[in-house]
Amino acid sequence: MLNFIQNLSKIQFPFISSLSLYVDLGTTNTRIAIKDKGVVLQEPTFLGYNKRSREFIFFGNEAKRIVGKVPEFIQIIRPMVNGIISEFDAEVALVRKFIERGVSPYVASYPLLKPGFEVVVAVPSIATEIEQKAVEEVFYKLGVSRVHLVEKAIATAIGCGFNIFLHKPVLVVDLGGGIIDIAVLSGGGVVMQKTLRSAGEHMNKLIYNYIHLKHGMILGETTCEDLKINLFRFDSEEKTSIVRGKSLETGLPKSVKIRSSDIKEALLSAINQITDAIKEIIELSPPEVIDEIYNNGFVLAGGLANVQGIENFFAEELKLKSTVVTNKEHATLSGLVRIGRRKDTLQRLKIELP
Ligand SMILES: Nc1ncnc2c1ncn2[C@@H]1O[C@H](COP(=O)(O)OP(=O)(O)OP(=O)(O)O)[C@@H](O)[C@H]1O
Ligand SMILES: [Mg+2]
Repeated sequence: MLNFIQNLSKIQFPFISSLSLYVDLGTTNTRIAIKDKGVVLQEPTFLGYNKRSREFIFFGNEAKRIVGKVPEFIQIIRPMVNGIISEFDAEVALVRKFIERGVSPYVASYPLLKPGFEVVVAVPSIATEIEQKAVEEVFYKLGVSRVHLVEKAIATAIGCGFNIFLHKPVLVVDLGGGIIDIAVLSGGGVVMQKTLRSAGEHMNKLIYNYIHLKHGMILGETTCEDLKINLFRFDSEEKTSIVRGKSLETGLPKSVKIRSSDIKEALLSAINQITDAIKEIIELSPPEVIDEIYNNGFVLAGGLANVQGIENFFAEELKLKSTVVTNKEHATLSGLVRIGRRKDTLQRLKIELP
């Protein structure tokens, strides 16, 4: 089926416009939207590789579900690290599968001739030119006829509902799985920016280390993430969870009760690092920008913006109004859709690679 789409996509039919796809290649989650159809797929950026048959056999949800429970010959691969492609072939295989799952049903509704694909995709500012080209290459390998790259911070800010073309600075903080992207945008571009690599995935590791040191116990990767999702909060509610892991002392299963306050303690250094980075960006900004930001505050997006009370924590620490956007997990993707909707906007914002 996909080969058919790929081959036809290379032929340009003047009477059939190409189908626009929007893709957010997140470190934790990949998201795809189609023009006029909205979001058609959100799945974890995980694959399972069979080392014996040398094939990718699990993709997205099904691969994430089996982390830590696979035999030695199956390898779980995370092809994106800190927002950058780290395993090219795996990323191509994953995106191919996701397009097949999320997009093919819509292509099937074209009765005879299949449209070509045009893709608008976000890349973080920390990506080098070679890393940006690798993103383009993923889609060209899948038979896409045109790839437009847009800087992720710009897409996220537009997805948060800002008109970044106005000379009215906005501060947007994307709290993702692989990167924390802090950016001030105004006049159609990024004025100030700082990217931290210690984001959601790193926090899972901090929880692992904390439990290891405090309770002499080894936890699985998924359990660490579940603890973060279930217990990490900044409101006054103290939640608890019983987790089972492997005792370092006996090698046998062991259970302990973990509280919200434990997780907060484990993650405090990472959160403080974010607070300091936002402070630094504000301090380094020109006076006019600082004035606008103090008047309007800043917005939070990304998966970690789900943490209860996180906006109040930052507001108190920074003495600044802080709001979580409603479409926090889809902010980057909605931005791409809005940018792609207008040809002139896409022309103005797309990254020109040599
Ligand atoms: N309720 C929650 N509480 C705490 N963390 C959460 C919650 N929901 C999701 N997360 C975390 O958010 C992170 C994923 O966020 P998101 O989907 O925005 O990342 P991404 O877009 O894939 O990555 P990036 O943009 O950094 O490349 C994961 O680390 C996940 O554990
Ligand atoms: Mg993201």
